[in-house]
Amino acid sequence: MINPFLKQLSLTIEQTAMSQSLQGVEWVVAVVQTIHIFAVCTLMTAMMLSNFKALGVLKRGHVLYPLASALKGPAHIALFILLLTGLVMIIGEPARALLNPIFQLKMLLLLVATVCSVNVAIQQKKFENNFFSNSGNNLLQKLLALIAISLWISILFAGRWIAYT
Ligand code: HEM
Repeated sequence: MINPFLKQLSLTIEQTAMSQSLQGVEWVVAVVQTIHIFAVCTLMTAMMLSNFKALGVLKRGHVLYPLASALKGPAHIALFILLLTGLVMIIGEPARALLNPIFQLKMLLLLVATVCSVNVAIQQKKFENNFFSNSGNNLLQKLLALIAISLWISILFAGRWIAYT
């Protein structure tokens, strides 16, 4: 059901003027991939710090603790840049991405990881606002942070793996 739709979509994209011009200039894809990797670095740093905080591995008073909150804005921008650069790569070679089960898995994992991380961040903020709390984050939050970390690492792996499938 989904694959015939994606096949038709990739054929349609392939025939657009933008896709045709991207296919003719290899350096554009290299530049876009480099920007994608820069954004990956920013987002991964932010996600790791935020989830380490929720896990209790990164404690109040540690030099990196304030960085986790400071990277919130850059993380949103990085996610937007990933979406834009990802779209350019898809337009350049639609079948390579859209019809690849690893790419489809990466998009699904991205959705779940984002939901988990947003939830962890909201609960973390509530915990931080409660200055006198010394009970730490609850077990469910820690489990969610652990799941989010595993998902972000899987997304990294899937992103690289697309090239080999
Ligand atoms: C927001 C939506 C995203 C889209 C549409 C997207 C799309 C893509 C595409 C089309 C490729 C090229 C794959 C290939 O042809 O080899 C790629 C590569 C990659 N992506 Fe994404 N991506 C997104 C988000 C992310 C995120 C959130 C991460 C990691 C946290 C990530 C990590 C990577 C990595 C590591 C590569 C391999 C880069 C390389 O080998 O040059 N992507 N992505």
